[in-house]
This record gives sequence, structure tokens and C-alpha cells, in this order.
Amino acid sequence: MSITKVSLREIEQLQPTALHNFISQLSQNGFAILTTDGFPERQAILDTLAKARAMTTFRFPPHEHLGTYSEQQREAFKALFKWSKICLRALLKGLDPLGENSSLLQKSLLQSVNITELFPPNGLGNEPFSKGMKFSGSFFNVFHYDFGLLNAHRDRCLITIVAVDQIMEETTSKTALWAKSPDDIWINLDERVDPGEIIIFTGEDFEQLSEGFNIKLPAVLHCTRVDPNAERLILLDDLPDPESSSHNNRVSVAFVLSDSMM
Ligand SMILES: [Fe+2]
Repeated sequence: MSITKVSLREIEQLQPTALHNFISQLSQNGFAILTTDGFPERQAILDTLAKARAMTTFRFPPHEHLGTYSEQQREAFKALFKWSKICLRALLKGLDPLGENSSLLQKSLLQSVNITELFPPNGLGNEPFSKGMKFSGSFFNVFHYDFGLLNAHRDRCLITIVAVDQIMEETTSKTALWAKSPDDIWINLDERVDPGEIIIFTGEDFEQLSEGFNIKLPAVLHCTRVDPNAERLILLDDLPDPESSSHNNRVSVAFVLSDSMM
């Protein structure tokens, strides 16, 4: 397994080597790690992660009711929405340069709202999108893994971005993000990502779309567990992996870009 980290800035600029590396990482490993130097908005993501250390529940926003976003979380959401669209645009340019199999999606990218229009009204709301906006099926979650776990699954979406904050300690009993590479090996992604970097997967909607391209990108199987081969557990929010230490587990932000409209 060889991991080549790719610059988000170079992907945004559609630099051919960066595009090539981005696509080959996704197809060979099932994920890509991107550096985000030079993007000032990454501070909001780092601040959101730092703040998430104080959470006492598994996820924000909660399942049961509308969450109240902090200004920092809104800014983190906007940054990840922008970055996920940079990644999607680059993948489409690299895999379908003439737009023969992705013209609707490319049009959606062009028509998508400016991030300043998110969180209506006036950027102060608690739902990121108005009904019917392009990509309004997208969402994010802030997770604290002292309080939960995710069994192996594939994401039903176009692109997922994960940013993580970890406390480095000599222990093997921490919950970690694992992805199963196409050659069937579980890879611990937390061990490979440095602060300020992001992890990208493609999901089932992108897999379906990529059937029309020269390179098919399968949705990667992933989980957040201590041992990726441990048996599946009934998921109850606020119950951590029983094998994990009781504190200092990872916190993360996961953003899911979906072209469905709510
Ligand atoms: Fe997922």
C-alpha cells in the first residue's frame, strides 16, 4: 500500500499530477488523504474539533431534534461543503473531462449556492440548506468516540470528507477509523493522517455514476471501531465500543456531499 498525500489547493487548480494522484489513490486504496495548507477556513474545522472534546454525547446534530449550531460549526460546515465540491469537480474533470456521463451533476455544481447563503435566514439558522437547494441532502456530523461507534458500512452519497482530532497516547485500545482497501485489507486511517489533513472517500452514488467512466471508483467499506474485525454491535448512540478506553478517543467531523435534494 503506498499513500501519496495530495494538495487540496492543487486539486482546486486542476493540476494534472494532483488529479492523477487523487484518482489513483481513491481507486487503489479506496481513500485519499489531502493536505489543506493555505486554506484559512480550515481553522474553523480545527476549532470545531477542539471544542468537540467537551461533548458528552456521541453526535452533533443529534438524531432526535434539531441541533443548535455554533458560529464555529457553521463555518466548519461551509468549509467542508466548499471543499467537497472542489473534490467533486476535480474528480469529474479527471474522469469525465467532456462531461458525457455527468453533465447534470456538473450543472448542479455550477448552480450550487454560494456558501454565504447557507444557514438561512441570514446565516444564523440551524439547518444549512433551504428546501430544494442543490446538494441540500448533504449533512455533517461531529462525533465524539468516547460515546459511540460505527459498524462497517458504505456511505450512500457522492463524497465523504473526514477530519479528525486525536490525543496521542501509547495504547492500542482506541477507536479508530478503518477503511477496507480493494485488496481486502483494513487500513487504520487515523495512523496515517496528520493534523490539518482530511480523508476523502467516494460513496455509492459516485460508484454508480463512475460506471460510465473509464475508471470505476467503488464505495469504500469503513468503520470506526477498535478492531475492524470485531462482531457488529447494535448501535445505540452514547454507547462506545466496549473494547475502547473510556476516554481520550478520537473526535471527528464527517461531511457527506449528496446530490439529492431535500
Ligand atoms: Fe460513513
